Amino acid sequence: MPQVTSSSSVEIKNRAKRQFESWADSYDRSLLNHFMFRPACMALMEEIARWYDEQRRPFCVLDIGCGTGTLACRLAGSPWPVSVVGMDYAEGMCQAASAKAAHAGHQAHFATGDSEHLPFADASFDIVTCSNSFHHYPHQQAVVHAMRRTLRPGGRMILIDGFRDNIVGWITFDVIISRVEGKVYHAPWTVVRDYFQAAGFTAIHRRKLNFWFPLLVTIGDVE
Ligand SMILES: C[S@@+](CC[C@H](N)C(=O)[O-])C[C@H]1O[C@@H](n2cnc3c(N)ncnc32)[C@H](O)[C@@H]1O
Repeated sequence: MPQVTSSSSVEIKNRAKRQFESWADSYDRSLLNHFMFRPACMALMEEIARWYDEQRRPFCVLDIGCGTGTLACRLAGSPWPVSVVGMDYAEGMCQAASAKAAHAGHQAHFATGDSEHLPFADASFDIVTCSNSFHHYPHQQAVVHAMRRTLRPGGRMILIDGFRDNIVGWITFDVIISRVEGKVYHAPWTVVRDYFQAAGFTAIHRRKLNFWFPLLVTIGDVE
C-alpha cells in the first residue's frame, strides 16, 4: 500500500475489523463468497495438493485472514496428514470458523490476531496461505516478511488477492470494491513480486483465476 501514516493505518485496520465483525454471520451465504471466495479456496487446495505431491510428508498450514475457516475445514477434512491454524483480525470470523469446524467434526485451531504481528515462532509452518485479505493490510511488505519468518525450509507461501492488472480487474477492485471497502490496496503483480523477492522467497510465480472477479495467485518457496 502506498505510504500510510500510523493513525491512518490504525483506522484502515479498524474499519476492516468492523466490516468483517458485522459480516461474519452471513458471509458464507453472500454472492461474493460464491463468485470469489470459494474459487480462491479451490485454487489454494490445488496449490497445496501440488506442494504435497512434491513433498509427501506431514505438514502444518497457517491461513492468515482465514474468515469463516472454509479452507481450514477443507484441509482438516482432507486425507492429507495436515494440521491447520486459521488466524483472523475479526473475532466474529474466528468464532464462526470454530463453530463450522466443530459442526463438521474437524480438528482446526483458530486464533484472533493481526497479520502484521503473527503470534507464531519462526519456522513453525510448511505452508502459509492468505486469500482475499491482503488488500486490507496497510503495511504489506512487513506482512510478507512476517509470513516468510513463520515458514520452514521447503515451505511455500500462497497469496491470493484481486487481480487488478486488466480492465475487468481494475474496474472491479480499484473502482467498485475500493468504494465499498474504503482505503484498501490491491497491489499489481509487479509490486507483489517485489514484496516476495525482498522477503527472500524463491521460485516466485503467479497464475490468474476467473474472468469476472479476477484473482491473482502468487506463489513463492523457502529454500
Ligand atoms: C474477504 S475475507 C477473506 C476470508 C477468507 N480468506 C476467504 O477467502 O474466504 C477477509 C478477511 O481478512 C481479515 N483481515 C482483515 N485485516 C486483517 C489483518 N490485519 N489481520 C488478519 N486478518 C485480517 C478480515 O477480518 C476477513 O475475515
